[in-house]
Amino acid sequence: MYSEKVLDHFHNPRNVGYLEDADGVAQIGDPECGDYLLVFLRICEDRITEARFLCRGCPAAIACASVTMELVTGRHVDEAWDITDEVIVDALDGLPEGKLHCSNLGAMALHVALLDYFERKNRPEEHAGGEEAQAGGRSQSDTA
Ligand code: FES
Repeated sequence: MYSEKVLDHFHNPRNVGYLEDADGVAQIGDPECGDYLLVFLRICEDRITEARFLCRGCPAAIACASVTMELVTGRHVDEAWDITDEVIVDALDGLPEGKLHCSNLGAMALHVALLDYFERKNRPEEHAGGEEAQAGGRSQSDTA
């Protein structure tokens, strides 16, 4: 049984969409053939000012993505880095045992997007133009 918060975020997901020229982008899963989560972060002076997501997955995955966007908005990147799947599950007042793994999608995509930001910040010349973000995201292996 889902909590009221899970149902609310599933029925009214926050921050759905795409951010052009995002500073950190992640793609977890495969949009061509399965569940996936895309995350876009706008970051100004190491603070996340906007966060958006696109997701195909179960209600728990969508609720986790939605609450993750709320949790990170306004936070310093170091604070956002500390957001784990447990933090996400707590923010939703829990998930059914069989759905706990769905929270991993949100936490993983957040961390990959932050890694993407850190990489761009350290080597901005490699990311001039943001073509990859405009193409719809980067895979996890792209940022490793
Ligand atoms: Fe696959 Fe939730 S995302 S069961």
